[in-house]
Amino acid sequence: MSPSSDWKSPTGFHGRTAIVTGASSGLGAALAVTLAAARANVVLFSPEAERQQQVATQCEQAGGQALSVVGDVTRPEDCQRLVADTVARFGQLDHLVANAGISMWARFAEVQDLAVFRRLVEVNYLGALYCVYHALPHLRQSGGMITAITSIQGKIAVPMHTGYVASKHALQGFCEALRLELQGTGVGVLTVLPHWLRGTELRQRAFGSDGRELGASSRRHSRESVPMELACQLIVQAMAARRRELVIPWKLKALLVLNLLWPRRAEALILGAVKQQDS
Ligand SMILES: NC(=O)c1ccc[n+]([C@@H]2O[C@H](COP(=O)([O-])OP(=O)(O)OC[C@H]3O[C@@H](n4cnc5c(N)ncnc54)[C@H](OP(=O)(O)O)[C@@H]3O)[C@@H](O)[C@H]2O)c1
Repeated sequence: MSPSSDWKSPTGFHGRTAIVTGASSGLGAALAVTLAAARANVVLFSPEAERQQQVATQCEQAGGQALSVVGDVTRPEDCQRLVADTVARFGQLDHLVANAGISMWARFAEVQDLAVFRRLVEVNYLGALYCVYHALPHLRQSGGMITAITSIQGKIAVPMHTGYVASKHALQGFCEALRLELQGTGVGVLTVLPHWLRGTELRQRAFGSDGRELGASSRRHSRESVPMELACQLIVQAMAARRRELVIPWKLKALLVLNLLWPRRAEALILGAVKQQDS
């Protein structure tokens, strides 16, 4: 999909209400501001009150109304409160962007604390599921959309990421099954499968083998990583068009096809790319 020149004012968001989870940094923060610029009412959700309030202020400066709800996607009661607060403030819910996520960078055999794997599933998969569960009755009423930020790793395996890959495959599969169940209800399900993105904190906050965050200077961005503005542009366009799947960048679809038809070749390409990242 090629970007159009009017992406900064996509139609269809004016006066609509969108929840964005994981909105205190990275892709969630950028998407929240982009939706606010399109005159949506934006509800931001993350555990980090202060940083999230700064993003809420940016949303209001961009032209939308913003509500900051502090909470943790791994707590079903927080997700229920998120939806209740949204509807109490704006009267309806049109978009749920399930974006909150965490990562890892460690060989499976070297991970010292297995709690890392539980946490990845709780945040990346169950956290999205809890939000969808509580949002769904309102999305049915509005004919709204679920947008889940999965990853290309929701369909492709990458070494050093075992727990992340598993959590994203779970989320991708959940969304695909839910999309089938929701056919005819008016609720759309969009899965977004990005490659590496620039300008997020995912890498430096990823769990290392000792269960601690890797830290800022641990690895460099690959030349292939996608600029944040382009990712936001493509995602809001796909939401407006009510698409079902978005791969960023689109050329990565070739890797999905290669993985089906010639998996050993795909594995060699993936191993080469990860070796470059890890060097
Ligand atoms: N960066 C990439 O290369 C890439 C590629 C493909 C897919 N993605 C996906 O894109 C999404 C956004 O990641 P990002 O790259 O923007 O990373 P990021 O900058 O680290 O942002 C992650 C966001 O998720 C929030 N979060 C983490 N745990 C949470 C929890 N338990 N409850 C609520 N919010 C929580 C964080 O809030 P706090 O800061 O308050 O903890 C933060 O706002 C993730 O799902 C990620 O898997 C990223």
